[in-house]
Amino acid sequence: MTIKNRLNDLAIFGGIPAFQEQLHVGRPNIGDRERLLARINDLLDRRWLTNNGPYVQEFEQRIAELVGVKHCIAICNATIALEIAIRAAGLTGEVIVPSMTFIATAHALQWQEITPVFCDIDPESHNIDQCRVEELITLRTTGIIGVHLWGRPCDIETLTEIAQEHNLKLLFDAAHAFGCSYKGRMIGNFGDAEVFSFHATKFLNSFEGGAVVTNDDDIAAKIRFMKNFGFAGYDNVVYIGTNGKMSEVSAVMGLTSLESLDEFVAINYRNYKQYQHELEGIPGVHLVTYNETEKCNYQYIVLEIEETATQVNRDQLVDVLWAENVLARRYFYPGCHRMEPYRSYFPHAGLLLPETEKVVKRVLSLPTGTAVRSDEVSTICQIIRFVVAHGQEVRERLQQRAVDQKRLHC
Ligand SMILES: Cc1ncc(COP(=O)(O)O)c(C=O)c1O
Repeated sequence: MTIKNRLNDLAIFGGIPAFQEQLHVGRPNIGDRERLLARINDLLDRRWLTNNGPYVQEFEQRIAELVGVKHCIAICNATIALEIAIRAAGLTGEVIVPSMTFIATAHALQWQEITPVFCDIDPESHNIDQCRVEELITLRTTGIIGVHLWGRPCDIETLTEIAQEHNLKLLFDAAHAFGCSYKGRMIGNFGDAEVFSFHATKFLNSFEGGAVVTNDDDIAAKIRFMKNFGFAGYDNVVYIGTNGKMSEVSAVMGLTSLESLDEFVAINYRNYKQYQHELEGIPGVHLVTYNETEKCNYQYIVLEIEETATQVNRDQLVDVLWAENVLARRYFYPGCHRMEPYRSYFPHAGLLLPETEKVVKRVLSLPTGTAVRSDEVSTICQIIRFVVAHGQEVRERLQQRAVDQKRLHC
């Protein structure tokens, strides 16, 4: 670890990077390797590699038990799970979604020629602003998809009321929210269906993977057919389907990860509390907090940077951190509405999304999880504290550096 005492100690100004190796956001958590390898050996011995194998069935059962939900259907990833859930729920026309989310939420709709209608977010929760949903409902609207960003639940109660009143389907992209609860009930039990992601970057992973969970028997039955090409028996296809099956090797990774779930959450929580403590009092640096009275996975460490107080903006801070080998991420900049094809379809969408536009410019995510040590968290916090303490000088030097670099390239 290199302590920063002078501006020239910052790697971006020629100093030695604080970390020799890059620290990533979302570095995978790995459970018990022996158990994993034993299970892989077992599945190889059985020669049952995919197509609703015994490990997939066990994984589904464990998740359903943990969430307390009637049905869990494991899928190859959350993007396909969203696509299938959207189709099984019968969504068409227009669906209301937040723009501040991973692009897959919008793509899962557009892929099926359903128009995502972007709704602004609540600047406090970063979730879809339930008060702005109704004004977006048209005759073509068939549903709402809320995203529990960072694992913090949407205002589910209000969204449910709106959906019921307008006869709309309600789905949740719960990619971030496995293991979280809302008013004491586990996420996964709300709306018509919810979708989890078990991608390698999620705190609980199955290499690639996802699941749809629902208490609706009809939707569950449709999803089971749809994820397997629509087959309902060897020679009988009853729906349009796709290949959304989870493989056995993913399921064993998922099962093994589930056995370490409490440990992963405990480490995330420890890191969260350490970040909270060590970033405390830095002007303009606000840690996104979690409701500790609910179940929570603490898998995202998100900062909001208030430039008027820090003097450096979010992007400058990210540049400084990258030079130190801290690969902070600007999730979910610039918002789906500013990415293709949505940018071309709705070039002025930003006018209706003022809070989204502001929030995507001030948030950044920091490394956490089992791959990050406590002394590393301390160093990251020290760098941020140092940069903000010298905010004005850092900004001026970065601006000068940008001018010099531009000249160099002319
Ligand atoms: C909010 C959100 N939705 C959907 C996805 C897609 O998940 P997957 O990578 O499992 O397809 C992600 C992935 O990171 C996500 O963050």
